[in-house]
Amino acid sequence: LIFAANTYSVSTMATDEENVGNVKRKLGKLFEQSLRTVASDVPDVEPSIVPCTAKFGDYQCNNAMRLFSQIKGKGTEFNNPNAVGQAIMKNLPQSEIIESSSVAGPGFVNVVISKNWISKTIQAMLINGIEKWAPRLAVKRAVVDFSSPNIAKEMHVGHLRSTIIGDALARMFEFSNVDVLRRNHVGDWGTQFGMLIEYLFENYPNWEDVGETAIGDLQAFYKASKQRFDSDAAFKERAQQAVVRLQGGESKYRKAWSQICEISRKEFDRVYQRLGVQLEEKGESFYNPHIPGVIKALTDLGLVEESKGARVIFVEKVNIPLIVVKSDGGYNYASTDLTALWYRLNEEKAEWIIYVTDVGQQQHFEMVFKAAKRAGWLPASENAYPKASHVGFGLVLGEDGKRFRTRSTEVVRLVDLLDEAKARSKAALIERGKAEQWTEQELEQTAEAVGYGAVKYADLKNNRLTNYTFDFDQMLNDKGNTAVYLLYAHARICSIIRKSGKDIEELKKTGTVVLDHEGERELGLHLLQFSEVVEEACNNLLPNVVCEYLYNLSEIFTKKFYSNCQVVGSKEETSRLLLCEATAIVMRKCFYLLGIVPVYKI
Ligand code: ARG
Repeated sequence: LIFAANTYSVSTMATDEENVGNVKRKLGKLFEQSLRTVASDVPDVEPSIVPCTAKFGDYQCNNAMRLFSQIKGKGTEFNNPNAVGQAIMKNLPQSEIIESSSVAGPGFVNVVISKNWISKTIQAMLINGIEKWAPRLAVKRAVVDFSSPNIAKEMHVGHLRSTIIGDALARMFEFSNVDVLRRNHVGDWGTQFGMLIEYLFENYPNWEDVGETAIGDLQAFYKASKQRFDSDAAFKERAQQAVVRLQGGESKYRKAWSQICEISRKEFDRVYQRLGVQLEEKGESFYNPHIPGVIKALTDLGLVEESKGARVIFVEKVNIPLIVVKSDGGYNYASTDLTALWYRLNEEKAEWIIYVTDVGQQQHFEMVFKAAKRAGWLPASENAYPKASHVGFGLVLGEDGKRFRTRSTEVVRLVDLLDEAKARSKAALIERGKAEQWTEQELEQTAEAVGYGAVKYADLKNNRLTNYTFDFDQMLNDKGNTAVYLLYAHARICSIIRKSGKDIEELKKTGTVVLDHEGERELGLHLLQFSEVVEEACNNLLPNVVCEYLYNLSEIFTKKFYSNCQVVGSKEETSRLLLCEATAIVMRKCFYLLGIVPVYKI
């Protein structure tokens, strides 16, 4: 179950087929061998391989300096780190991957990747599919807990961020052959249900028949019942009893509860459907029956203490304890999350459990994870599996720099937001004369792909921890680092291939990729880096790394390759069309990982 994370010991992996494109991993393997010879006395030296920052090569190995400091004064034959670098270089095994190598400065070993190997690897991808470039992660099953709005309360832009980021992470893991449990941990068990149910009974005696139509707007219903709750002590009393009766399983209360949940669910689904996001709901209520057993187990381990009438768990380096049973004997958010974590580890056998919420919940998760470590459910080390990670994100701001609101200062309705993005992108397409050139269906589909894609990309391209400003004009701009620009770039590449009149499937079988021009080579190498980039994005839970890669790919294609290398009608046409096709394939996979639908025509 437990794998060492982030090592280069690919030798333990089942397969290492020819032409699987993970340059960094492959180089790591070569340097690992060399380091074993050079530093035979130092155990477990992990190769440190990164793309070159200077123009001395494509990748560099940075081990010499540290290694020298480890062996210096212990009878080593080396006088300085540069000499260690030289030895590392000399002991590199023969390989078709490396064209040349050199040592610079205090011992950086620079390597130039073989042009032939790059072309061979790209050709293999064209034939065997990009799935062969999928990263290999250390886990087999992961839970991504994302979106997770609260029943009867508004699904706000924070939930939209969670939905977009969580879906991208789930897609990245799924592409990497991880079995992903996409969990919607909806808030369906809070004390708010007492007042909602009482309000329903009070105002709609025949609620069983009219429930759904009567409630209609659930948020208005919530507001009205809250008002009643706050202003009438007797109602409040009944509402509190209703919670107890609901949680005790009384059927009338359960029935009203599930009716309210169903209405919310339909609302949420409209957002998911627009965004093309799949989720499986296991709400807070699901874990409720398991809570007593989990609390008992934690108590038996001696972790649970009494504090001010509540039962709590203290964790390292946090002043306040985690309350697991409230002073009134009820359970709370933390009891549920501890139980859900237990369930995911033991019942669902997940090796990595990922929670996507705003950074405001960071401390909550930190405490839950630390409690789980105290209980021995999770290993103490950060790098060992099973592992739990909180993926926090910043606020969504409006153009005024304040928390995002709509004109009415009410909360933003997500469906309206998405509809507006689509409407705006449709208007832009009509302005470009597309209404005359395309069928209505093409227009609709493209407007949707561009509009929703723009909302997603604007969110994903930032480091998720930073706040981001929701700005339609900016995200729908067709220049700069936006989905619109990237989708158009992809469509343009497709049109180059179409207009060549060549059968690209045929060329894949018969043609070869040649990388003689510097622009071709640079594009080729960047294509090859797709696999290690996605791997890094997965391991660090950062979808923006994929966005950055995608944007650079598009820039390299346009500025380095296409503006210098004539494609159609040149003597290198076949090879260059294949490079166009490879670029389009990699771009499409990036779009897919980000949850963006590509467009082929513009
Ligand atoms: N319902 C919570 C909210 O809206 C998010 C739940 C996140 N997941 C969890 N396992 N706590 O803030």
